[in-house]
Amino acid sequence: MKDNYYFDNAATTWPKPEPVYEFMDRFFRSHGVNPGRSGHTLAIEAEQMIFSTRKMLAQFFGFTGDPNRVVFTQNATDSLNVALKGLLRTGDHIVISQLDHNAVLRPVNHMRRDMGVEVSVLNPDESGLIGIDSVADGITEKTKAIVVNHASNVIGIVQDLGAIAAVAKQHGVLVIVDTAQTAGVLDVDMADGIDVLTFTGHKGLFGPMGIGGMIVAENVELQASRFGGTGMDSISAFQPDTYPHRLEAGTISIPGVAGLNAAQKWFAALGQSVLEEKTVDHAANCKAARHHIHKTETTHSKKIWDHLASVERVRLMGQRAEQNEYVATLSFLVDGMPAQQMAEMLDADAHVCVRAGLHCAPAVHSAFGTAEAGGAVRVSPGYFTESADIDHLLESITQLLQ
Ligand SMILES: Cc1ncc(COP(=O)(O)O)c(C=O)c1O
Repeated sequence: MKDNYYFDNAATTWPKPEPVYEFMDRFFRSHGVNPGRSGHTLAIEAEQMIFSTRKMLAQFFGFTGDPNRVVFTQNATDSLNVALKGLLRTGDHIVISQLDHNAVLRPVNHMRRDMGVEVSVLNPDESGLIGIDSVADGITEKTKAIVVNHASNVIGIVQDLGAIAAVAKQHGVLVIVDTAQTAGVLDVDMADGIDVLTFTGHKGLFGPMGIGGMIVAENVELQASRFGGTGMDSISAFQPDTYPHRLEAGTISIPGVAGLNAAQKWFAALGQSVLEEKTVDHAANCKAARHHIHKTETTHSKKIWDHLASVERVRLMGQRAEQNEYVATLSFLVDGMPAQQMAEMLDADAHVCVRAGLHCAPAVHSAFGTAEAGGAVRVSPGYFTESADIDHLLESITQLLQ
């Protein structure tokens, strides 16, 4: 038996590609200085690495505007907080959904309770999809924005972002997208009507923890909600208006950005290796890599889903309908056994890492009737999952249920 069989990639992808570890270590040793502050050669070179990462991420997400509008934060939670606080004022209305993670639910609930922001929560259908009609119905005269959970971190369903964004645009409503479960796996293109794209570094983008970001479209101005040093215009009493400094206060994570930088190059190299017609275009190579990764991961999840569907005591959450799109994450319950117990037994007896509970997304579990039982067992294979790992997972579940 191996030390670990890792099926918790929805929480964070692990392991990372080798060049990510290598470049983080190397760059932190050679350029672990405060970027953009001091003006000496090392600081300028560190700043250049950061700017080149902004440029690569802009291309990765189909953003043709100023790369300085790719803003670094700590993670998706931080980005969503910055976006929501930068946009919503007392009396404004926002549309969210039951698919949303606490990274959306909690800031919005605080703003509802503490600031008088009005909130509508859309319910998904039995497959987990938000109906396009319900989006239009949810919008009022006061609606400022809609948050789209691009893919659920519990049931893996992918929303029709283009269609939702089109309805929002017809009503003059801004579209904030939470790509925590899709960045690096599916194409997410700013041109699809996205106004604010939020991402986290440590999941499908294969960076480390502690780095995330957002892309703010050029038609959108977010007010700063954090204030402090930016390394420029220090005489000013207030936060600069220009991006990225408007939204980036304080020192950003050099190791974190270095990790994302190396991961972007890894995506491009992977794409180049699978593309028949070779190109040096970063966006095209990364797109090919994403398709390859998504295909690999969904082959894994299909095998797991199909097997679990045939196990008597197992109930899978949601569906895998042909007409819908899914990421590799899936969740299940076992008749007569709490999810936590199943996860603990898999860990203790079989060294299998899964996540049980509500997965920071309590409303999804309410929608699917799994909240009261304490949630479900989530299985999320990744790009580096091996076929033998899946065999071990499935055999272990079968054995534990005998
Ligand atoms: C859909 C979704 N949104 C937001 C987040 C928050 O990501 P982070 O913890 O990196 O801020 C997660 C993490 O699990 C997620 O799955």
